[in-house]
Amino acid sequence: MHHPAPPTPEFLAHVADRQATLRTHLAALLPAGTPLTLELGCGHGHFLTRYAAAHSDQCCVGLDLLADRIRRAVRKRDRARLAHLHFLKCEAVEFLACLPAGVTLGDVFVLFPDPWPKRRHHKNRLLQADFLTQLADRAGQGSRLFFRTDHAEYFAFARAALASHPVWRIDMAVPWPLDEPTVFQQKASAFQSLVAVRAG
Ligand SMILES: C[S@@+](CC[C@H](N)C(=O)[O-])C[C@H]1O[C@@H](n2cnc3c(N)ncnc32)[C@H](O)[C@@H]1O
Repeated sequence: MHHPAPPTPEFLAHVADRQATLRTHLAALLPAGTPLTLELGCGHGHFLTRYAAAHSDQCCVGLDLLADRIRRAVRKRDRARLAHLHFLKCEAVEFLACLPAGVTLGDVFVLFPDPWPKRRHHKNRLLQADFLTQLADRAGQGSRLFFRTDHAEYFAFARAALASHPVWRIDMAVPWPLDEPTVFQQKASAFQSLVAVRAG
């Protein structure tokens, strides 16, 4: 069995620095008291830019791990002059860990997340019990999680994780708020969607 080497002190110091910078940045950027609309893995930002243009009353934040995708998303945002929309190069779990205490999540979008099809990689999937709990901890009562994928097996996996979660409740009656196809949606021949509401 492969045991990864423990992280070096330099690596840990680098992570601590990055998180301290992110905490300071988020505290300056995000208004306390207004629930955030969040898109995890926003790619080039097509969906959230259109969404924010239609919802000028919401503070919208899109995250992606890839700098190039975020650069393109920021260009869209700047062209559309949407001051209430922010795109950050940031990892989803780290973002939640660094979110200022007074900031809560409203609606959360996860559109065509990486499916990690091999069984031994399922642990990398975003939508699973631990992460759903971390999201629920920062989400307000009535927050909604909008999930869409073209990967049938990931859809069933995420649906099962949500169905057995103590806080999220699947509610297929909630309408999809905006039909703006993402880059990955445009390439998909078929896809499935579900909505879960933060109950309890
Ligand atoms: C398959 S792409 C979909 C992009 C976009 N949502 C779309 O539908 O076109 C998944 C995206 O999620 C990003 N991503 C994966 N894991 C992430 C994480 N833990 N935190 C933030 N972004 C992540 C990837 O960099 C990638 O851009």
